[in-house]
Amino acid sequence: MNQTNVHDYFHGHGRIEYSTPQWLFDALNAEFGFTLDAAASPDNAKCKRFFTKDDCGLEKDWGDEVVWCNPPYGKGVTGVWARKCYQASRGGATVVMLVPVRADAKWFHDYAMKGEVRLFRNRLNFNNDHGAKWYAPFASSVVVFRPANFALTSFPDVKELGYRA
Ligand SMILES: C[S@@+](CC[C@H](N)C(=O)[O-])C[C@H]1O[C@@H](n2cnc3c(N)ncnc32)[C@H](O)[C@@H]1O
Repeated sequence: MNQTNVHDYFHGHGRIEYSTPQWLFDALNAEFGFTLDAAASPDNAKCKRFFTKDDCGLEKDWGDEVVWCNPPYGKGVTGVWARKCYQASRGGATVVMLVPVRADAKWFHDYAMKGEVRLFRNRLNFNNDHGAKWYAPFASSVVVFRPANFALTSFPDVKELGYRA
């Protein structure tokens, strides 16, 4: 498959399921301590607790879990997951999602930009189902949605340092 075809897969039907680069997940997991992978298969799940296509993570209550979400990408799909990630955070979950940067998409403005958007200098190198690696033909972002009641003062050490929210 050449790079043009990869582009079609990502943007056209989103059929190939690409796993998060392990270094990226490890770095974020060290920061957040994920308890749930909301979009996974038994083969690529990043957490012990995970939802698959059959469970439909979109329909589950994410409660107050600390959620990792690298959703399926595609037209009309990514936005639905971005909305779920945002809404779950309003319900008490901490959610970190990995999505393409789509500065011209409604969902990016309506949901992603309500979180903390972290951008990458380079494009990510994903692994596909067969272990092959592909540079994404788009820029990626990590978006952090804190729960509604989140405050910096939740961290005792920050308080001890004398910071005020
Ligand atoms: C981009 S991959 C992410 C894989 C892995 N969780 C990771 O972060 O490396 C998206 C995964 O979501 C799964 N998926 C698709 N629809 C889903 C749904 N409705 N609920 C939960 N998982 C779903 C796919 O089968 C695929 O394994």
